[in-house]
Amino acid sequence: MKGRIRDIVCIGAGYVGGPTMAVIADRCPDISVTVIDMNEARIAAWNSDALPVYELGLAEIVRRTRGRNLRFIPQAEGAASIAQADAIFISVNTPTKTQGEGAGKASDLSYVESCARYIAEHATGPTIVIEKSTMPVRAADTIKRILSSGKNGGSFHVLSNPEFLAEGTAIRDLEKPDRVLIGGENVTAIEALAAVYRHWVPDAAILRTGLWSAELSKLAANAFLAQRVSSINAISALCEATEADVDEVAGVCGADTRIGLKFLKASIGFGGSCFKKDLLSLIYLCEFYQLSGPAAYWQGVLDINEWQKRRIAAMAAEYAKLGGGVVAILGLAFKKNTNDFRESPAIDICNQLLAAGIRLRLQDERVDAGDFAKTLVDERKAGFAFFPDIGQAVSGAGAILILTEWDAYAALDWTALARLTAKDAAIFDGRGIVRRAAAQAAGFKVFTVGKGQAPN
Ligand code: UDX
Ligand code: UDX
Repeated sequence: MKGRIRDIVCIGAGYVGGPTMAVIADRCPDISVTVIDMNEARIAAWNSDALPVYELGLAEIVRRTRGRNLRFIPQAEGAASIAQADAIFISVNTPTKTQGEGAGKASDLSYVESCARYIAEHATGPTIVIEKSTMPVRAADTIKRILSSGKNGGSFHVLSNPEFLAEGTAIRDLEKPDRVLIGGENVTAIEALAAVYRHWVPDAAILRTGLWSAELSKLAANAFLAQRVSSINAISALCEATEADVDEVAGVCGADTRIGLKFLKASIGFGGSCFKKDLLSLIYLCEFYQLSGPAAYWQGVLDINEWQKRRIAAMAAEYAKLGGGVVAILGLAFKKNTNDFRESPAIDICNQLLAAGIRLRLQDERVDAGDFAKTLVDERKAGFAFFPDIGQAVSGAGAILILTEWDAYAALDWTALARLTAKDAAIFDGRGIVRRAAAQAAGFKVFTVGKGQAPN
């Protein structure tokens, strides 16, 4: 087993693999980093000026590393790189299974398994194989079993090194991580990977654990974060009913250092590619081990999230129906500073409004309109249209529903917009970013999640 990593391959050039490898290449000029992906269009985009992932600071890093010690190549041309690699990251998607045992809950490991087969086929010599994708606990067993079938003389150590980056702040999270987690069984392999991160992360922030703890820690960390959002969203509804203010309650609770202030912003619900998928995976694991109490507990976190989306969509629909039945939706991304709308609350909320016969005027700062349109179901032919401009989007709308906390929406000139909307238009602020006094002074009725009753 080699003690030093000089040559890295990453399979999967997505939101996780791309930025992570760019930062490793940037911070480790002595290491050669090759990112491969079966999606050739995605690889072409990584090799162009229009990167497939938008993250603050990413383009600059790719510009200075690409062609130096970072390259992106199609998987079809990846065999030689695999043969040469000291360490291979698996960073492909692990979506929720849609069929077979555990459908709807368990993670689908088929992409991971096909990567392991690909590695087994082409690797030569000692190679560290690193789970970067979020996996169910004991997934490493499956990977090890597949790797051991390799006939090319490869010998392997499997590590779990889950990513904790959040979209929108990925580069900051990678450059200044709270912690890096490396789980494994072989100390030499663990320390070889730790040495890569030590190029820029203090050793004290590199946590070493067993394989199973590392796999479970990633699921648990995301479940805890999701649970905080569901907790404050559950409180938000109670605040509306009792005239308490959810931001005040969150501020007071969070001032207790045992609780902390982060992840207590009430919202229309959490979205993103990870929280729901990882909660479902955790629930499936609990059920697999016949732990029905814990399974029901985590299911509750998901249920509140669905409930919050539904109730806020219903409020906006009810109000809009009183007017012309037109709602302007500001924000489709699952949070600000990303073009990602996977599992975005906007998808369910828009579909609920369309099903209620509401016409939608949609706007976002970065989401691709054509791609988002594919998530919409408009059986009642209520109709929807996208507008690049906020003013156009709110024209004639009886309700404005804010679903993403883009800075541009926090700074809107409500007096100017009031001239464009329908008479008696109301704002439904699902992110708590609108300056209420200014909006009310401009003539809008304002509902903010967790702050008082909906207008009627
Ligand atoms: C994914 C998972 O969603 C997440 O749980 C995990 O922690 C990391 O991997 P992400 O990078 O956001 O995160 O996924 P995605 O943007 O879909 O990228 C995965 C890439 O892998 C895609 O570009 C896909 O083409 C590629 N892929 C998939 C391969 O190259 N080979 C495969 O066999 C399967
Ligand atoms: C998350 C984890 O934060 C990250 O560590 C992990 O690696 C991947 O999953 P991400 O999904 O990119 O990252 O976004 P995150 O910032 O966690 O937000 C998730 C969702 O929760 C978003 O829809 C966000 O708007 C929502 N949220 C977050 C709230 O509604 N309120 C909050 O206080 C915080």
